[in-house]
Amino acid sequence: MSPEQKLAWSTAQTYLALGNALHGATSLGIDSCPMGGFDPAEFSRILTIPKPLVPVMLCPLGYAADTPMPKIRFSKEDIVF
Ligand SMILES: Cc1cc2nc3c(=O)[nH]c(=O)nc-3n(C[C@H](O)[C@H](O)[C@H](O)COP(=O)(O)O)c2cc1C
Repeated sequence: MSPEQKLAWSTAQTYLALGNALHGATSLGIDSCPMGGFDPAEFSRILTIPKPLVPVMLCPLGYAADTPMPKIRFSKEDIVF
């Protein structure tokens, strides 16, 4: 694989693992906040993450200090056909 293909493949693997981690954390009563949309190069620089590692998602885990806002979700009938 080319470097771009390797990054795309490993990013997809990370998303799969992160999805499992989020569900696992929730089942244990641990809160999380997956975050994308950051500058990977800048994040690596700040945390001195060495190449070839590339951060693709950030996910703090812990116990939320605030009471969660009410969920706004479509009803099951609106999304399942
Ligand atoms: C800075 C920041 C970046 C986030 N980036 C993403 C993202 O890239 N993808 C995503 O699905 N959610 C992203 N989120 C959303 C949160 O992780 C969380 O899922 C969202 O606030 C909904 O919370 P809830 O599941 O408690 O309703 C981001 C949140 C924050 C604060």
